[in-house]
Amino acid sequence: MILTGKAKLAGVIGWPISHSRSPQLHGFWLDRHRIDGAYVPLAIAPENIKTALAGLAAAGFRGLNVTLPHKLAAFAACDTIDDNARRIGAVNTIIFGDDGKMHGSNTDAFGFVENIRQNSRWQSGGVAVVLGAGGAARAVCVALIDSGVTEIRVLNRTRERAEALARDLGRPLAVADWSRRADLLADATMLVNTTSLGMTGQPPLDIDLDALPADAVVNDIVYVPLETGLLAAARARGNEVVDGLGMLLHQARPGFEAWFGVKTEVTEELRNFVLGKG
Ligand code: ATR
Repeated sequence: MILTGKAKLAGVIGWPISHSRSPQLHGFWLDRHRIDGAYVPLAIAPENIKTALAGLAAAGFRGLNVTLPHKLAAFAACDTIDDNARRIGAVNTIIFGDDGKMHGSNTDAFGFVENIRQNSRWQSGGVAVVLGAGGAARAVCVALIDSGVTEIRVLNRTRERAEALARDLGRPLAVADWSRRADLLADATMLVNTTSLGMTGQPPLDIDLDALPADAVVNDIVYVPLETGLLAAARARGNEVVDGLGMLLHQARPGFEAWFGVKTEVTEELRNFVLGKG
């Protein structure tokens, strides 16, 4: 597509940025909807973040996605912060408003819940077990709280991090020891892995699923590989499983709509395209 002088511009900032799949994903939607616009990967060094944000706003960008290591710096730089970004403690989506202000939001919780809704029959409620206490766990817990689960058991190798998360987000979070990850599954309706365990190049996630109810949904935030050891084991015993790619795809929707003015969908075709099978 040839861009005109009126092309709508957005992009993703990170350091490094070459691994980001966001340009492919937004590029697919831009193409599909025949939008006069572009979405570009931008490698911005941490020391340049403030200048870059101001410069991109001045250059007419509509907004940006923010990836590592800029999510906290973006939080600090924005003029307004939405409720989810405040609770998660990080900004992943910026809108440069017509008012000249920088509006920060976080769409990861939305991405998580939309992925579960689209790909499982999960009925919100009951007990969720969340493994990990990093940034991804924060977004998952916010989403689970808002979807009405009665209890979220957070288990992390470093227990203090789980306790900090529980302090920040409050009820219904309950912290338990990492060593109890197998026996605390007994009454769970959902199990989510937000740790890096099971990712290509990382150690596997070692967990015994015997106690997990047959109707519990199992989700892994890890999407490289798409079918992690956890998902394969859960699938083999008959649990419904949801992979992590959908969260990445769904979290992109609110930004795209804000910058380019079109509502998007996550389809099988988009998944295949982002996986390089398109
Ligand atoms: P993110 O922001 O993507 O969630 P992160 O903050 O680096 O990333 O968190 C990674 C998660 O994987 C953490 O919960 C981490 O546990 P610690 O808080 O104890 O570091 C977890 N993790 C990484 N390697 C692990 C391992 N070998 N065993 C158990 N947990 C591990």
